[in-house]
Amino acid sequence: MPDFSAGTGADPGCRLCACLGIRYPIIEGGLAYVGNGSLAAAISEAGGFGQVGSAGRSPEQFAEEIEVAASRTARPFGVNIPISEHRDNTPYVEVVLQNRHRLAAVSLSAGNPRPLIPVFREAGLRVMVLTSTVRQALKAAEAGADVIICEGFEAGGHNGPAELTTLALVPQVVRALREAGRDVPVVAAGGIATGEQMAAALVLGADGVQVGTLFVATEECQAHPAYKELLLRAGDEATVVIERSQGRVTRVLRNAFTERILELEKRQPSIEELLPYILGHNNRVAAIEGRVEEGYMNAGQSTGLIREIRPAGDVVRTLASEAAAALNRAREWAVRLQGRAEEAKTD
Ligand SMILES: Cc1cc2nc3c(=O)[nH]c(=O)nc-3n(C[C@H](O)[C@H](O)[C@H](O)COP(=O)(O)O)c2cc1C
Repeated sequence: MPDFSAGTGADPGCRLCACLGIRYPIIEGGLAYVGNGSLAAAISEAGGFGQVGSAGRSPEQFAEEIEVAASRTARPFGVNIPISEHRDNTPYVEVVLQNRHRLAAVSLSAGNPRPLIPVFREAGLRVMVLTSTVRQALKAAEAGADVIICEGFEAGGHNGPAELTTLALVPQVVRALREAGRDVPVVAAGGIATGEQMAAALVLGADGVQVGTLFVATEECQAHPAYKELLLRAGDEATVVIERSQGRVTRVLRNAFTERILELEKRQPSIEELLPYILGHNNRVAAIEGRVEEGYMNAGQSTGLIREIRPAGDVVRTLASEAAAALNRAREWAVRLQGRAEEAKTD
């Protein structure tokens, strides 16, 4: 494995930072359509781990965005391949392999990662696998994953059908991996948009966090300004889950278009009936072209915590400093609870 940590300021005390060669244990999730190269570079430049998304891009466009990221940062960054989103993964895998000297890691989601894990590991890349249950996490670790990302049901985009929340999923995966003797970093994803939430994930036993929706609301993200504006205005009830009638869970912003989908889904439509609505094209229309009432936009449950469009580097640094402050505040609780426990002993 190449040593990605040289000169990056990576924290050797953090398993995830050491594995990826990063300063802060903050990963940008793969972002279909909107996970562009300059966003990934800005996140990596600030000490996090940016990722170029492949969903919603042709293999050529995917390669171009990797080129953009590589031209803007010398720090480690990666790519995301959502396996079942591509009709044929072969050309995307080839793009990754051709660019292996520029990449530190690849994240695999939405499908069986087992056949691809050795391909990328043999190419010298770290492999991160998205999981949404303990069983998936154990299988991914057994198959050789270097990082297990636990994605809860709060997350924007496609989620696992078990609908486990981040709060419940992360500690169960941490415990299961420990009991199985697997020394692999665990990353919490889903619903994290503040440093307090990041701190909570670390307290749950995660080695770091993966963030999606918050990074859409940044200056470098190629999402249309109208989409970003909706994220700022969105409150706690702004997201809904579509595609449940097909056994899939996709969290998106509520709008007239998704209301039509939900109406249709009440009648248990066939996939042929539903397909015209859930096609990726409708994601592009809203997220990239800005016709926000004519398509759907992925977003997670913590949209209500997003207040401004900022440079992505500021987002990374703020998450880290807010998390540090939150963990310091939590010390007061440690002292208080310890005090109560001491009192109880003498009762
Ligand atoms: C706009 C958007 C697009 C996404 N596209 C992908 C994708 O292509 N591949 C993937 O693995 N995850 C995708 N996700 C999930 C994210 O990588 C990440 O795990 C998730 O957003 C974390 O939850 P949060 O949105 O609450 O931060 C997407 C999420 C969003 C918000």
